[in-house]
Amino acid sequence: MILVLSASLNPGSRSRILATACREHLESLHREVMWFDLASTPLPFCDGAAAYGDPNVVELGKLIGAADAVFIASPVYNYDVNAAVKNAVELTGKKWTEKIVAMMLAAGGTGSYMSAMGFANSLMLDFRCLIVPRFVYATGESFEGNSLADDEIQSRVELLVHDTLHLADALRSAKAE
Ligand SMILES: Cc1cc2nc3c(=O)[nH]c(=O)nc-3n(C[C@H](O)[C@H](O)[C@H](O)COP(=O)(O)O)c2cc1C
Repeated sequence: MILVLSASLNPGSRSRILATACREHLESLHREVMWFDLASTPLPFCDGAAAYGDPNVVELGKLIGAADAVFIASPVYNYDVNAAVKNAVELTGKKWTEKIVAMMLAAGGTGSYMSAMGFANSLMLDFRCLIVPRFVYATGESFEGNSLADDEIQSRVELLVHDTLHLADALRSAKAE
């Protein structure tokens, strides 16, 4: 199973358009896909205590634990991913262990393209995640209303899906040996 996690809390989110394109492409490849949107399924702030028992947190933890790979679509906020997805990782912690993680970012400008590196490092160093070394980083011209603007951004999403599935399938085969 592949999980697509949409992190933006904005109703008009552009990273959610990336997440949707990713989900649709995975479905067209007949992959089992689960969808988790932090806007429609809110999580409490991580308090290191009772928040771990929240039903939405438990549900997200199960999905991450069962996923062969996780696609994260996030806004760039203050040269980072948004706080909501950082909070989601704090809440779900070890469920991320050794997951393949692919990143899609929506940003306001072209200069923030390394914004996810701190987040990626934390997943890699805390949980030994394999970070797919290809990000989709998209600014305003990649979007037209509620859709991707053109074939170019669509093909970048599809390339990320291709590379991520390649890694996920290889890892699953290696573990089965
Ligand atoms: C609080 C805040 C901080 C932002 N910081 C950055 C930034 O550091 N770099 C950048 O390129 N865009 C930045 N932006 C623009 C967003 O990345 C852009 O609006 C993007 O579309 C947000 O993703 P979303 O549409 O999925 O919510 C920021 C926007 C907000 C609201």
